[in-house]
Amino acid sequence: MAVVEANNAAIGAAAEALRSGKLVAFPTETVYGLGADATNGLAVAAIFAAKGRPRFNPLIVHVLDVAAAARLGHLTALGRQLAAAFWPGALSLVLTKQPDCPVADLATAGLDTIAVRVPSHAISQALLRAVDRPIAAPSANLSGHVSPTTAAHVEADLGGRVAMILDGGATAVGLESTVVDVTGDEPVILRLGGVTREDIARVLGRAIAMAEGNPDAPASPGMLARHYAPTAGLRLGAREVHKGEALLAFGSATPAHAGPLINLSATGDLTEAAANLFSALRALDATGARTIAVMPIPEEGLGEAINDRLRRAARTP
Ligand code: TXA
Ligand code: MG
Repeated sequence: MAVVEANNAAIGAAAEALRSGKLVAFPTETVYGLGADATNGLAVAAIFAAKGRPRFNPLIVHVLDVAAAARLGHLTALGRQLAAAFWPGALSLVLTKQPDCPVADLATAGLDTIAVRVPSHAISQALLRAVDRPIAAPSANLSGHVSPTTAAHVEADLGGRVAMILDGGATAVGLESTVVDVTGDEPVILRLGGVTREDIARVLGRAIAMAEGNPDAPASPGMLARHYAPTAGLRLGAREVHKGEALLAFGSATPAHAGPLINLSATGDLTEAAANLFSALRALDATGARTIAVMPIPEEGLGEAINDRLRRAARTP
């Protein structure tokens, strides 16, 4: 049985597995990660094999604190400012790699930059402390599938391919981390996620740019046009439901519907909606409905990242 409750004994065993080059899935506050010892190139390669990733995209490397991050990448004043405001938490910073950075090249896809994150989840932190090495971890789903927010999601995608899945319950944020490139003078958001653009602007005291990018040659694969993809088609901005559709609702004014229905947040709370998003998409997809009608989500705060994910999922390949 790959799924184990994340008690101290299980975390110790998971750390052992990681140190011997095996893969361990673990909860973070954003989504579940598929972890490997970031300093072990073979272990990192096993991540790509397990996910069936079509390309070697650079991965996020998880560490315990700012000091550990600074050993991997150069933290500019700007990077330190954002780290102080949002770590531990749902922000990944792209830094210029240190010359003696011990992380395997495959984890950074050969780039001279590295994406680093300090997670706030107690189980992530306990695992990092026990393994005492940086952990490379993309979201623990098969390539192209939605990100997992429960251990059961991970098991469904990767059950036979990992040494262990640490079960820490449903993740609180439910969206991946926001990725910000702080290698230059001006920060650039490469991927929207759990930390909003407004949150960052408030800390900086000015607006922050989003990477424009050609969606076919993205600076960050999070920007790939179709990345978060259920099998069903998505019809966004739906105010009524057509015959045969499943309904992904939001708020209290839900149209009458006899078929499959999940409300992301009956009270219209965007934080609750983000936490429910990926499991709701999976559950509605599993009903076999050809199309999921999605009610409008306000384009503000976390709604911006939710709509970004929904637009990607809606695009046909
Ligand atoms: O919340 C999260 O970030 C989760 C949890 C497990 O921490 N991890 C995650 O990792 O979503 P992944 O591998 O699915 O997404 C990594 C994102 C991609 O968009 C990737 O392109 C970007 O980070 N990235 C990583 N290293 C980069 C680099 N050096 N330059 C630009 N983008 C980078
Ligand atoms: Mg992912």
